[in-house]
Amino acid sequence: MKIRILVMLACTVFSVHASLADDTIKRSDYQRPEAIPAPDSNPLTIEKTTLGKALFFDPRLSRDKGMSCATCHSPDHRWSDGRVVPLGSEELEQPRRTPTVMNSAWLKALMWDGRANSLEAQAVLPITTPHEMNYNMDELVQRLGEIKGYRPLFESAYGDAEITTQRIAMALATFQRTLVSNVSSFDRWVEGDDEAISVSAQRGFQVFNNKAQCAACHKSWRFTDDSFHDIGLDSPDLGRGNTIPVEVTIMQHAFKTPTLRDLPENGPFMHDGSMTNLEQVIKHYEDGGLKRPSLSKEMSPFELTEQQKADLIAFLKTLNGGPLALSPPELPEE
Ligand code: HEC
Ligand code: HEC
Repeated sequence: MKIRILVMLACTVFSVHASLADDTIKRSDYQRPEAIPAPDSNPLTIEKTTLGKALFFDPRLSRDKGMSCATCHSPDHRWSDGRVVPLGSEELEQPRRTPTVMNSAWLKALMWDGRANSLEAQAVLPITTPHEMNYNMDELVQRLGEIKGYRPLFESAYGDAEITTQRIAMALATFQRTLVSNVSSFDRWVEGDDEAISVSAQRGFQVFNNKAQCAACHKSWRFTDDSFHDIGLDSPDLGRGNTIPVEVTIMQHAFKTPTLRDLPENGPFMHDGSMTNLEQVIKHYEDGGLKRPSLSKEMSPFELTEQQKADLIAFLKTLNGGPLALSPPELPEE
């Protein structure tokens, strides 16, 4: 009985809070963090970033020297590839679209299904995946050891020139942590510049937080709750359900909520790259997605007016901070 009352109280407090929510309360929920987080075991340093950048752009990390991380996570495509199906995945039964690596310092679970838990752990996966870089770490360590230009880079990053899998992974992780979205017009508005975004975008922000309930999942400055949901896409891929027992119904067809910052103009969007514009995305949410047991309970249908749709899109566009000022490195010489 006591517990029940407490729960009721908690709900009441919550709904009072929600109904009081004016845009100033909500604006502050979206404030950017002041510093880039990094684990104690791999602090950010300029030297590791320089090494990581060289590794990230170096196709010699793949067996046939034809593919680097930047082939698929390219600065020209907002650190993704602009493709529905990534290079090499054409023959896969359930190919997944390449996510951006911007703001990856803040990721709590990596990959669409969360199967990697840190940038360090993730970094070896593409190198060793047969349909991606198709190499192995032992041979890679040896190959890099034979490239003279890498010696000083490892030395200044780690104090000596020894090359190990762990050092490669730590440098790749460090470089990626430095890829942070530029300040966008939305950020300036959050900071109090009322003119930074249009009136239409301000209305779109209200639609996003209220009627369309996008903020139920796309939360905080990165616009993600770092969690997994089935939003009812017609895709055979079980996502997180591939690794979580079928009894955990809500994790079947569940994918990680992606960031909404710096969205490419014409997608492709979603884990399967199945949508190519924001109108399509909004229509999907209005319809509420495929009804199945795993469908997120946050996915209830709603209807927006043409004006509200235009406002919502105008708002999403204010999250675009433009390309990062970063040019590809000169690759270390043999
Ligand atoms: C052939 C294209 C390709 C290459 C090359 C590639 N990636 Fe990826 N990357 C992907 C795809 C596709 C995914 C999503 C896979 C999934 O979720 O199953 C991904 C996911 C990631 C993620 C997780 C992002 C997130 O939001 O969870 C990171 C980080 C990443 N890659 C870094 C790298 C690094 C570092 C390299 C080089 C060592 C690399 N990638 C090489 C295609 C590629
Ligand atoms: C139930 C949680 C949830 C709600 C509510 C929700 N989203 Fe999503 N959103 C997700 C997930 C999860 C994905 C990835 C789904 C997938 O690929 O299977 C996604 C993907 C997207 C994408 C594609 C991004 C990309 O990089 O591919 C956009 C754009 C988007 N949502 C916008 C919105 C908007 C606008 C709303 C409100 C109308 C909204 N979302 C409501 C969870 C949600």
